[in-house]
Amino acid sequence: MTLATSQDFGGDAEAVVDVDIDADFARSVIAGLSVPQKQLEPKWLYDALGAKLFEAICEVDTYYPTRMEMQVLANRADEIAASLGDNLILVEPGSGEGVKVRLLLDALGERVAVYVPVDIAADQLIFLGQTISAAYPEILVAPVVADFTGAFTMPSDLPDGPRVLFFPGSTVGNFDPQTAQELLARLRVESRAEALLIGVDSCKDANRLVAAYDDPVGVTAAFDKNILNRINRELGGTFDLSAFHHEARVVPEKSRVEMHLVSDREQTVEVAGVPFAFAKGETIHTESSHKYAPEEFRALAAGAGWRGEAVWSDTDGLFSLHLLRAD
Ligand code: TRP
Repeated sequence: MTLATSQDFGGDAEAVVDVDIDADFARSVIAGLSVPQKQLEPKWLYDALGAKLFEAICEVDTYYPTRMEMQVLANRADEIAASLGDNLILVEPGSGEGVKVRLLLDALGERVAVYVPVDIAADQLIFLGQTISAAYPEILVAPVVADFTGAFTMPSDLPDGPRVLFFPGSTVGNFDPQTAQELLARLRVESRAEALLIGVDSCKDANRLVAAYDDPVGVTAAFDKNILNRINRELGGTFDLSAFHHEARVVPEKSRVEMHLVSDREQTVEVAGVPFAFAKGETIHTESSHKYAPEEFRALAAGAGWRGEAVWSDTDGLFSLHLLRAD
C-alpha cells in the first residue's frame, strides 16, 4: 500500500515533493563552471537516462562495489535482521532503482512496516514506490522526492517504530570526508533514525579502481558524459560531447578516485547564455569516490554521532557494510 502524503503524481503513488530541480540545477552548474577547477555536483548525473546508465554500471564486470555489497547483504541477512528489531521504518536516501533494498526487505520480512525512499530522480522514485508496493503489499511505501544533500521533509504521518537509515552503494564516499560527516549527522537528526546500515568501499590498488571507474565497456564514460547532455537539453548548453573524454584518476593521498571530463581541445561552451572557456586538457571534476578502511569510517561516523556496532565484509575485504547506532 502507498501512503498518501502531499502531491498526486497521477499514478497510484503519491509522494512528498521537496525539491525545485530546475532552479537549483542552473545555479549549481553556472557556479561550478565559474571556479578555476571546474566542477559539477554529482547529484546532477542522475536524470532519467543517468539513473539507467548507473544501473548499467552496476552490471559491469569490473565494477565490484555493487556485487560485493549484495554478497554481504545476502550472506549476513539473518544477523542484520536480528539486530534491527520489528515494526521498522526503513528510510533510504538515494534509493535509485531499489535493487539492494529488495534484498534487505526480503531478509527483514514482516519486520518492516514502512519504507521511505528518498530520491532526486522523481520518475524513477515513483516507479520504485509502485513496484515495492506491488511486491510487498504489507509494507507502507511513503516516497519523498527530494535532494537528500539538503534538508528534506519526512512524511508527517508515519506510525511509531524504530527508524533505520539504509545508505548503501558507497554513496557516502561521493562526498568529501568533512561533508560526509555533516551529512551523516544531519540525516540522523532529520530522519530521527536510531540505526544506520551503510555500505562503504574499502581502500585498494589503483588498477582495480581504474577498471571499476573507467570500465572497458565505456558505460561509466557514457554515464559521466550524460551530464553534459543534460546541461545541453535542460539549460540550453552547447557542449560538444565528442570534444570531451572521461578519465578516472586515483588520488592515493586523498584516498579517492576522481572522475573528470577532459576537454580534448581549446573551446568555448555556453550554458544558459553564459560563455565558459576551456583550454586543451582542462577538466571538469564531476565526482569523487572516497575509500575508507573500516576503522577509518567508524571514526568518521563517530564524529557524526553514530556508534559502530558491527562491520561485515566480503571475503576479499573489498567492501564493507556497517551497522551503527545513534548516540
Ligand atoms: N556511489 C558510486 C561509487 O562511488 C557512484 C559511482 C560509481 C560513480 N561509478 C561512478 C559516480 C562513475 C560517477 C562516475 O562507486
